[in-house]
Amino acid sequence: MEMRKITVNEVRLSYVDTGTGPIVLLLHGFPLDHSMWRHQIEALSQRHRVLAPDLRGFGQSEGQDDKVTMRQFADDLAGLLDSLGILEPITLCGLSMGGYIAWQFWRHHGARLTGLIVCNSRAAADSAEAAAERLRLADSVLTEGSAAIADAMLPKLFAPSTLESQSSIVEATRRVMAAIRPTTIAAALRGMAERPDMTDELAGIDIPTLLVGGEFDVLTPADEMRAIARALPDATFCPIADAGHMAPLEQPARVNRCLLDFLSTRV
Ligand code: MLT
Repeated sequence: MEMRKITVNEVRLSYVDTGTGPIVLLLHGFPLDHSMWRHQIEALSQRHRVLAPDLRGFGQSEGQDDKVTMRQFADDLAGLLDSLGILEPITLCGLSMGGYIAWQFWRHHGARLTGLIVCNSRAAADSAEAAAERLRLADSVLTEGSAAIADAMLPKLFAPSTLESQSSIVEATRRVMAAIRPTTIAAALRGMAERPDMTDELAGIDIPTLLVGGEFDVLTPADEMRAIARALPDATFCPIADAGHMAPLEQPARVNRCLLDFLSTRV
């Protein structure tokens, strides 16, 4: 997939820009890169202009921060749209950390949105314990390296059926995670630890919103996503059978169907 480069907020970002039509911006999760969306880039770009950046520090994008807040990532996306001269409202689709960023994009750049898609994510902030654990992990990744994080996270990312019968997806994800710099992982962990709780703001998010979640997701459970859909004024939840946290990679056809249905009827 051809990657382009552009300087945004003094950082050189890499991104995919393909297809024509209404714009969909895909935001990857942690600690991953745009390639987790490869099946969606292919399917959606038949009818849409699809942008899929590597967030600062991740994948092929530059970035050397000690901490990156979800707001900073969201501001980078607004900067990307500015640099590309995109004024029309877009649909933003984020998975997990990409979802945390999508909420902040809505909060600070909401006029640029016509629709929102949040996959395998949550609205609540970290508990005090979870935040403390992230800060501990941020310190340990700097000494133990990214591969250690990948090994710890991988079993939690996939449905049992994916772990059993789709080992190529698991291995490809391991390679992406192990290649992310430890400083980038630490910076995102510190940012996620202090992300705001969006629960009380959900009722105000009145643009069409789609929630997508894997039925075997242990990190961001489907029931929590269902509750988010109920709290939003104009949302539907699309559950994905036989998928865990990485639903777009595990069950691409099912996820693509949900996304394309939403995009063709709601935004
Ligand atoms: C992700 O997939 O982006 C992460 O699991 C999010 C998190 O650690 O909360």
